Amino acid sequence: MTAAGSPAGSAAWGSTAAVPSIELEVVSFAYPDGTRALSDVGLRIEAGESVAIVGQNGSGKSTLVRHLNGLLRPTAGRVLLDGRDVRRIHVARLAGLVGLAFQNPDRQLFASRVSAEVAFGPRNLGIRGPELDERVQAALADTGLGAEAATNPYDLGYSRRKLLALASVLAMRTPILVLDEPTTGQDARGVARVRDVVARAAGEGRTVIAISHDMRFVAESFRRVVVMREGRVVLAGAPDVVFGEAAWPELGAAYLEPPLAAVAGARLGLGATPTESAFVTAVGRRRGGATAGGAGAE
Ligand SMILES: Nc1ncnc2c1ncn2[C@@H]1O[C@H](COP(=O)(O)OP(=O)(O)OP(=O)(O)O)[C@@H](O)[C@H]1O
Ligand SMILES: [Mg+2]
Repeated sequence: MTAAGSPAGSAAWGSTAAVPSIELEVVSFAYPDGTRALSDVGLRIEAGESVAIVGQNGSGKSTLVRHLNGLLRPTAGRVLLDGRDVRRIHVARLAGLVGLAFQNPDRQLFASRVSAEVAFGPRNLGIRGPELDERVQAALADTGLGAEAATNPYDLGYSRRKLLALASVLAMRTPILVLDEPTTGQDARGVARVRDVVARAAGEGRTVIAISHDMRFVAESFRRVVVMREGRVVLAGAPDVVFGEAAWPELGAAYLEPPLAAVAGARLGLGATPTESAFVTAVGRRRGGATAGGAGAE
């Protein structure tokens, strides 16, 4: 059934269940001071895709994702959700479609209690009562902040403020989830939490887009990797292609290194995204062979 008032007649477009595709059409962007941060970026992300954006500092990653929720408007080009220009989508509606967890949590957080912070987004979307409580509890549980519901966000350390920024966005249950460097500052447990959040959202058919400098997290948690350099998309593809040996020169030009597993996988003839068991088997075989045949391991 077509949702009443849904733009361009797309079915149930405004409901949180429907996941719109994303398209950047030759998007360029310059900040008011003249800094050109994006140049002719073309990128299409289908509904339900999980995409990591990587690139050196200042390559335009955050600028790109800020275009997805209308925080920034292209200087030239268009950003489309299900074919509709985001400029023409009402801010409130856009907020229900695209949830963005900021790179710097302190630009996002403002409430004096963790629970109030997490409740803010869904409340703005009109959620009240038991559903609001359930969403807040679930988001706090998913990010490991359940015991800190009554804490002032500014009494949390940086890594937990990052998780709180993530929880605030999770509670909105938007069909598109955008995470700007969610693993920064996280220890192994924090990274595992983020990984679980990404896997669950992707498993629910939502679109997940994350910026990260952690190539292992990128290779393990995303189906597609987009590489940026100086405001442009210079490489995009599945992790085994982007981190595959043939792409190493391009990665190097973007000042990126493939994850250790990709390098070792290439050496062992397992490709760029070896499974742990294939890796262990190949290493065992190689060591066995080296011992038996006396071949020198380099
Ligand atoms: N508010 C701003 N005003 C002017 N220039 C900006 C602003 N924000 C970012 N820039 C510049 O735009 C370019 C792209 O910045 P952006 O923050 O998008 O990069 P990034 O890839 O997210 O980098 P990082 O990995 O450091 O987060 C950089 O040259 C940056 O200095
Ligand atoms: Mg950034």
